[in-house]
Amino acid sequence: MVTKLLSAASAADREEAGRLLRGGGLVAFPTETVYGLGALGLEDAAVARIFEAKGRPACDPLILHVSGVVDLQRLCRPDDRALLLARRFWPGPLTLVLPALPEVPLRVRAGLPSVAVRSPQHPAARELIRLARQPLAAPSANLFGHVSPTTARHVLDDLEGRIDAVLDAGPTSVGVESTVLSLAGDHPVLLRPGGISARDLSAALGEEVRSAGASSEGPQLSPGMMARHYSPRARLLLIDEAEDHEARRRLRAAAGEGAALLLLEEDAGELTDLPVRRILLGSRSDPAAVAAHLYAALRELDDTGVSTIAVRLMPVEEGLAAAINDRLRRAAGSPPREHDPLR
Ligand code: TXA
Ligand code: MG
Repeated sequence: MVTKLLSAASAADREEAGRLLRGGGLVAFPTETVYGLGALGLEDAAVARIFEAKGRPACDPLILHVSGVVDLQRLCRPDDRALLLARRFWPGPLTLVLPALPEVPLRVRAGLPSVAVRSPQHPAARELIRLARQPLAAPSANLFGHVSPTTARHVLDDLEGRIDAVLDAGPTSVGVESTVLSLAGDHPVLLRPGGISARDLSAALGEEVRSAGASSEGPQLSPGMMARHYSPRARLLLIDEAEDHEARRRLRAAAGEGAALLLLEEDAGELTDLPVRRILLGSRSDPAAVAAHLYAALRELDDTGVSTIAVRLMPVEEGLAAAINDRLRRAAGSPPREHDPLR
């Protein structure tokens, strides 16, 4: 299969992407978080192609992308909490997990009684949903387990020859995947931290959002919470000391052994004497900039074939910084730290 590179700046290309989707094809498209791999969300055969192209196990459910609150009511049973959050945070990087209506194919939800739904903000994503005339199932457009794509080039690096097209709109703005909140049970549970913080969700609900990590009992709440995920090929070495001096010592030792370095701007003056690749992600006080550059930097360092990447964690676990550290811990294969979602 030849994968077409289409431009979101061209109306004809956007139309073509819509045609491919309506015909049951696979089209990767930009959202504000990461590129998604889209297909008709209510067509079992189209959804099946997503799993095949990504090498994704059938037990890992997909997010349905919709235009807004009206579509939500066609897919699931939103309660008052869900309607409040959707009206407040959509369109945007918030995914809600809710009890599914029977119309949602079992394959989309991996056999679960619940379905994940989000309304993306990116204009190209919104137009494709309109052109497809039904919700688009779309996981991140990477091979299963790999780092999510934030550019069309990243998508092609993983999926060229396996999908019909990618719609290029340049780099995505948020850079990490959406917040996933389950409202399928009695209490709201944060399944994945992202662009919308647990604190903002709790404030809007007037009820504390619990962290999935905090509930040890019961089945795995979200299959995507697997510990090793979002991974580059290189080993990640996380530098996490509160004590700056110890962090510097560990970074220097890692660099001395040939590790590439993923640093915060505050580390810019460090280790300039060592001949290793270094990328500055942004300031520790600007998690939005760090998130926006994170996945591109991981892919770039990985492509150099380096065996270890040493990376500084964000110092404060809140909002986007919590999402960044969550992804880095998963990429390193270490279990996510139980964090207090209200911090
Ligand atoms: O920002 C995003 O959310 C991107 C863009 C493309 O929208 N999409 C994305 O999809 O990250 P994916 O498939 O890579 O991650 C979806 C996550 C997975 O961890 C999956 O297990 C979880 O959502 N999920 C989906 N349906 C679920 C359900 N019914 N119950 C619990 N977790 C669910
Ligand atoms: Mg993914």
